[in-house]
Amino acid sequence: MSSNHGTHGENASQEPNAAEDANPDSDPIAPQDLSSPSDPIAFQEPMVELVSVWKSFGDKEVLRGLDLTVQEGDVICLIGASGCGKSTLLRCVNLLETLDRGSIYFIGTEIAPGVVNDNAVRKRMGIVFQSLNLFPHLNVLENMTLGLRVAHRISKATALELAKEWLARFNLSDKISEYPERLSGGQQQRVAIGRAMIGSPDLLLLDEVTSALDPELVGEVLALMKELAAGGTTMLVATHEMGFAKEVASRVCFIHGGVIHESGRPEEIFGSPRTEETQRFLARLREGGRL
Ligand SMILES: Nc1ncnc2c1ncn2[C@@H]1O[C@H](COP(=O)(O)OP(=O)(O)O)[C@@H](O)[C@H]1O
Ligand SMILES: [Mg+2]
Repeated sequence: MSSNHGTHGENASQEPNAAEDANPDSDPIAPQDLSSPSDPIAFQEPMVELVSVWKSFGDKEVLRGLDLTVQEGDVICLIGASGCGKSTLLRCVNLLETLDRGSIYFIGTEIAPGVVNDNAVRKRMGIVFQSLNLFPHLNVLENMTLGLRVAHRISKATALELAKEWLARFNLSDKISEYPERLSGGQQQRVAIGRAMIGSPDLLLLDEVTSALDPELVGEVLALMKELAAGGTTMLVATHEMGFAKEVASRVCFIHGGVIHESGRPEEIFGSPRTEETQRFLARLREGGRL
């Protein structure tokens, strides 16, 4: 873990408590926070930093002092057995869960539900889940632009232009007026990822976005994820798609026992895993034909 927690803590304590103030001008994650620190020593602020994060549900301890640093441009694949806490981790980052202990920093500011302006933070993170991402009663254009219009307060005309741009990029231009039920699962997930990206978030969180799809539809979604990764999108991806992790991840993190048990470049994790637990997990995947 990097040595800058103290600095983070101090910065965070100087931030106004935006939860008591719905005024968007008091956005604690203001754009100016993104500029390089005035520190003359070149220092790249991590995009996200989790420091000793603990999270239980009832008496089940899911995250047990988990540390993770995500730098700008990273594509981090979170792997691990079902129930190991991948979704919980992503939900904590997106302020959908309150930590029991520990801290999460987003671009240098400590974030926690209700302590910062949750919507200001979420505006700068896109998240896509396994399924049911789209509003069924809204068409593709309305799904794509709702957040832009409400959270980002972008005009109808600009939102339409942005939606058209992203739909063209994702090869979905002809679906602009379609309702979700008329789209394939793969198309729905591509629209959901487009919607997550349309506000130009700093970070994209993807939680098993291909696992509810029929096998023949997985490829089109993975291809789109690869394209975003190649374009420099910072991504934190919970996945069972080991092919994607091997090919695209800048770092693979194996979650076990509530912590990042082992992490490294894909060739390290898949080629020469150091610990017995990682070896056992990978062996199970191989037996199941998933690696
Ligand atoms: N809201 C919740 N209430 C109770 N238990 C939960 C809740 N969310 C997750 N869990 C439990 O926490 C553990 C981790 O879940 P999850 O983060 O979804 O794992 P993964 O995404 O790696 O499969 C599981 O045992 C799950 O049942
Ligand atoms: Mg999950």
